[in-house]
Amino acid sequence: MTREPSNSGDNKISVAFCCLGNICRSPMAEAVLRHATSEMKLSHLIKEIDSFGTSGFHSGDGPDRRTVQTCRANGVPVNHVSRQVRLSDFERFDYIFAMDRENLEDLKYMQPRGSKSKIMLFGAYCEDARMDKIISDPYYGGPDGFQSSFRQLDHFSRTFLKKLAAGTA
Ligand code: 4NP
Repeated sequence: MTREPSNSGDNKISVAFCCLGNICRSPMAEAVLRHATSEMKLSHLIKEIDSFGTSGFHSGDGPDRRTVQTCRANGVPVNHVSRQVRLSDFERFDYIFAMDRENLEDLKYMQPRGSKSKIMLFGAYCEDARMDKIISDPYYGGPDGFQSSFRQLDHFSRTFLKKLAAGTA
């Protein structure tokens, strides 16, 4: 049996994902990063993974059924209740990853000056030149958009984790 190294100190990081409605992309991102963290045996590096939306349109709702179906088809459990971003999130999370440029600008506008979160596009962790860095909103499209978001999230998550483990995230 291989054991994960212990990391009992305070250097575990907290990560959150943000999209508009917190029912399609960011709950999928949360699920994918959690799954990849476990597969790559890096749970000792992460304290918390969460997600929220810039809007409260769907607060209290579960993930969109197409997000659930796509995650299930790819063997990834998803379980989340939608909520809107809060000011306290900017102190709670080391990283807040935006799905698209609009989410990024909205988060930067809201962020209290001097708060700890590093806010960036999750696509900053793209290492595939053929892949789009922006995770576009799949809500009004068909199932292909959800599968394409999944592929991007899986690639960005594994790149992020690889860099986190190497101390270069
Ligand atoms: P998400 O997708 O931001 O990836 O959760 C959306 C969900 C709902 C809406 C827009 C985008 N909406 O307009 O209700």
